Formats: sequence, structure tokens, C-alpha cells
Amino acid sequence: MPTQSKASQRSRFYARIGTRGWRDSGYDTFAYRSPAFRQWMRSLLPPRQAILSVGCGAGELEGELSAAGCAVVGLDLSFAMLRRAGRNGLDLPVQADAARLPFGPRRFDIAMFIESIGYLDLDAVFAEARRVLKPEGRLIVTSYSAQINAHARYRKWPVDQVMACAATAGFAVDRCHYLTVAKNRVAEARSPGQSKLFCLSATARGGNSGHALAGERTLDDAKQPGAHWDWRLA
Ligand SMILES: C[S@@+](CC[C@H](N)C(=O)[O-])C[C@H]1O[C@@H](n2cnc3c(N)ncnc32)[C@H](O)[C@@H]1O
Repeated sequence: MPTQSKASQRSRFYARIGTRGWRDSGYDTFAYRSPAFRQWMRSLLPPRQAILSVGCGAGELEGELSAAGCAVVGLDLSFAMLRRAGRNGLDLPVQADAARLPFGPRRFDIAMFIESIGYLDLDAVFAEARRVLKPEGRLIVTSYSAQINAHARYRKWPVDQVMACAATAGFAVDRCHYLTVAKNRVAEARSPGQSKLFCLSATARGGNSGHALAGERTLDDAKQPGAHWDWRLA
């Protein structure tokens, strides 16, 4: 019997999630599951930005960013995920491969990869992100720590490797948060080994404005053990 390629298994996997929704698929993401995480991400991003979300999935975060006044393009391979993202408030869905972005150069303020890099060739996709970002553009990447049970086909890239690939693509890494994430709470982990997720931010080299992202703490803040951001939902 012919074996399915990894790519086609993955696309069937996401077609199923797009059709049924995360809740009934036995797998989900922090961006779906945790309103506090979405709020933490929104607080990191300045208002009215042109944002490209690569591997946007069902677009829960992207819909909220659109509602907050950002121009958000959500890009995904999966049509079913994009259709769901449209229902979640994403205005601008684009079906394409992260390694070949269908945009001209210098279009976006921010390119973000939220829990999607595990399926991607980092060198290829970061080079594409650098190309479509404005000179002062920012790269935001979140992904899972080694101790998290992720989809079997999701590669949990070590942070050092993500940073090295970002640097090769022309980004200066500004900072990396190691987070614990629950439904209603996001906190800075006491150590990377205790984190569930990392969030890396970087600036396109050669055009660095030197401005921090909105709400971004300094490196010294991040070093405080147990520093946390607590957003309890009303
Ligand atoms: C784990 S989901 C994350 C979705 C969303 N960002 C979130 O955090 O809920 C990964 C997404 O990446 C998409 N994806 C995988 N490979 C891709 C590629 N080569 N180009 C674009 N999207 C891709 C999948 O279709 C899926 O929607």
C-alpha cells in the first residue's frame, strides 16, 4: 500500500481540525485555548500595525488583532483552517506556503509565527519573512518547549537554533520570553526548563528603530524570577 507523504498527512490533519474545530480534534494550541495568552500577545504588539501571521490556523488571535485595529493577513496552507479563521474575524486570509510568500518586499510591520514553526524550514521561511518586512519590521515567533506534548509531526526547534536561523536571515534578536501559560494566566517561567512556550522577538537588521514593542519589558525585568503577567478574565 502506498504510504502517504508527511505533507499530505499534515494537510489532512488540518483539514479535519478546520472542519471540526480544535475542541473535537484532540489537539489544540495555546493561542486557541488561552484567552490570557492572546491578551498577552496583543499587549506585545503596537496598535494599527500591518501584520502577517504565518500559519495562522483558525485565527483566534488574528481575529482579535483585526478587531483591535491592526491590518492582519493570515496565511496558511489549509483552506479549511482559513475558512474557520474568517469566521473568527480574520479579514484577510491567504492560502499559500510559508516558504513562498505571495507578497512584494517591505509590506509588513510585523511577521509572526504563532505555534507554526514546527512544520517549517526555518531558513526558508525567515528569509521570506525578512523580505516582506519593512526595514524596521519585527519578527515574532512562539513555539513549544521540549517538555510539551505536541503533534507528532511538529518539530520542537531548540530556541538556540531558532535564534541562529533568525540571525542568518538578517534579524537581531531582541529578547526571548520563557512562559508558562494557563487559560487565564501567563507568567514568566522560573527557568526555561519549566516553561511551556517561548516567545522570541527580533528586529530586521539594517533598519532597527530601536523601539521596544508596546508593553515589552526590559531584559532586566525578564530576569526577575517568577515575574508574571496575570490577566484574569472578568
Ligand atoms: C499548530 S497550528 C497553529 C495555528 C495558529 N497559529 C495557532 O496558534 O492556533 C499550525 C498551522 O500551520 C499551518 N502550516 C503548516 N505548514 C505550513 C506551511 N508550509 N505554510 C503555511 N502554513 C502552514 C497548518 O495548516 C496549521 O494551521
